Amino acid sequence: MRPHRDFLTIHDFNKPELDALFALAARMKAGKYKKKPLAGKALAMIFTKSSTRTRVSFEVGAWQLGAHSLFLSPRDVQLGRGEPIADTARVLSRMCDGIMIRTFDHADVEEFARAADIPVINGLTDVQHPCQIMADLLTVNESLGTYEGKRIAWIGDGNNMANSWLDAAARLGFELRIACPEGFDPDPLLLKRAQKHTTVILTRDPREAAEGAHVVNTDVWASMGHEEEQKMREIAFAGYIVDDRLMARTAKGSIFLHCLPAHRGQEVAASVIDGRHSRVWDEAENRLHVQKALMAALMGGEPLVASPQRSGSKPKAKSAPVRKRSPRSR
Ligand code: CP
Ligand code: NVA
Repeated sequence: MRPHRDFLTIHDFNKPELDALFALAARMKAGKYKKKPLAGKALAMIFTKSSTRTRVSFEVGAWQLGAHSLFLSPRDVQLGRGEPIADTARVLSRMCDGIMIRTFDHADVEEFARAADIPVINGLTDVQHPCQIMADLLTVNESLGTYEGKRIAWIGDGNNMANSWLDAAARLGFELRIACPEGFDPDPLLLKRAQKHTTVILTRDPREAAEGAHVVNTDVWASMGHEEEQKMREIAFAGYIVDDRLMARTAKGSIFLHCLPAHRGQEVAASVIDGRHSRVWDEAENRLHVQKALMAALMGGEPLVASPQRSGSKPKAKSAPVRKRSPRSR
């Protein structure tokens, strides 16, 4: 019986483990990690939504760590013709060593994880985008030294990104200020949970969120699956553009992040995303390093312990439960 863990939300890991992932990703980015912990392994990648960064980072990352990856589109696999999720998960578990899924309904990813006996990684659902927030936080650490004590502003839709920021704030303890129009708030339960752990402000005023912020983050007004609401959302989100006037309110040395793809002139002014505050290309590149760290840990047995440089101690917090892999011959 081999233990395995999933990564469906940032809440699946505790703070020392998340810090260990950042440290491992940074080592990989610096070229100091030479191992191939996924040699001879296979990653199944299921995409029912479009993707550039997620697909490329997982596919290239898996290859760099020694694995083969399979791009599975519902147009081509039997899942798209109604084969049950649980059956697909069981079959993939017999042939592969990890599954990455991007889809609409978060419950589908949870069902996949329950049925699979190999690690399942959430590559975005309607309510979560944890891999992106990990890359964002790696970018914050690189640009500002640490996320500790920082004020992070989220301007725009209370979408999957905003929800994953809430989970990250709850786990890591930085301050989060979210500015959304009424009717576009993030998940109320995730908001409440985060507010128990750290300072989280929900406001209708983007200026209040941006005031003194070290990081300003935004996203499209209409996420995948909401395309038909584009016009209505353009009206609802007018005034939520991240422009130079908004950035002028932020802390000295502040950075701008966007998970991409971006719509210049809507959620962000071209002068900001292409300007001096922007770290969006580092952020996009960091998807690769974070995905590699995650796969090395979940699929390759790389231990998630704090690096001696950062804390000099082993993590004290209790780990999330480890699920047992059912016995099978491989
Ligand atoms: N940021 C992100 O997830 O990009 P893709 O949709 O291109 O994967
Ligand atoms: N919120 C966006 C993120 C895209 C990477 C979406 O779900 O479409």
